[in-house]
Amino acid sequence: MSSQSKSGNVTLTTLQQLKMRGEKFACLTAYDACFARILSEAGVEVLLVGDSLGMVLQGHDSTLPVTMDDMIYHMACVKRGNRGSLLMADLPFMSYASESQTLENAAALMRAGAHIVKLEGGAWIENTTRLLAERGIPVCAHMGLTPQSVNRIGGFHVQGRDTDQAQLIIEEAQLLQDAGANILLLECVPSELARTITESLDIPVIGIGAGPETSGQIMVLHDVLGVSPITPKFVKNFLAEAGDIPGAVKAYVQAVKEKRFPAREHCFS
Ligand code: KIV
Repeated sequence: MSSQSKSGNVTLTTLQQLKMRGEKFACLTAYDACFARILSEAGVEVLLVGDSLGMVLQGHDSTLPVTMDDMIYHMACVKRGNRGSLLMADLPFMSYASESQTLENAAALMRAGAHIVKLEGGAWIENTTRLLAERGIPVCAHMGLTPQSVNRIGGFHVQGRDTDQAQLIIEEAQLLQDAGANILLLECVPSELARTITESLDIPVIGIGAGPETSGQIMVLHDVLGVSPITPKFVKNFLAEAGDIPGAVKAYVQAVKEKRFPAREHCFS
């Protein structure tokens, strides 16, 4: 691992320090022990057990069918393979609809090995974020394109393109930081908006399809390896050049750290 604390593990403090030093960090999704070990040993700071597993592992056309049982199973697999990365787990669709449900489900993910839970939303997750933070559960707030709301949004579209929507995202990001979020994840927003938010917040901001200026980058593992059926604009296949999987993951980590990925062609303006 390249960015470990003295204990040998990546922690929230590690990410905070990297942001303060202006150094980028790399994140990838992971769903099983074997890949978790490869990613972790290649220096990926954060492994996300994402509800994207509903699409890339289970073959659904959205993340909505993913259950808590699915998440707990894959979280436990990833924990066994992990070699010191920070482990983040998604709270899946409708698993944080009430206070008691949120606490029970977040606790189940933490017991399975998560160090931080991720939930999607803007102002409406402010109280949930505060509830979790007050009880010692770190939170990553996922904003911009929030796939669990795909039916409300009307598709997987770039968010924050008009001034009013961009302003709302800026204000809600601040609200969630103030409520106790430890990380913000921005998906599919214009690079300029992601830069403004990253500069205005104290917490690290992770981007996917959000340009090169966020503190860290995240990709779905299957996209990095070029095996996803669809390839959005922000995706790069690192396996094609590297030739093998550990090489592809190392190339991704290096490209993020050297600010070569994402390049202009992967960004929205
Ligand atoms: O579920 C997931 O994999 C995600 C990433 C797309 C950030 O939320």
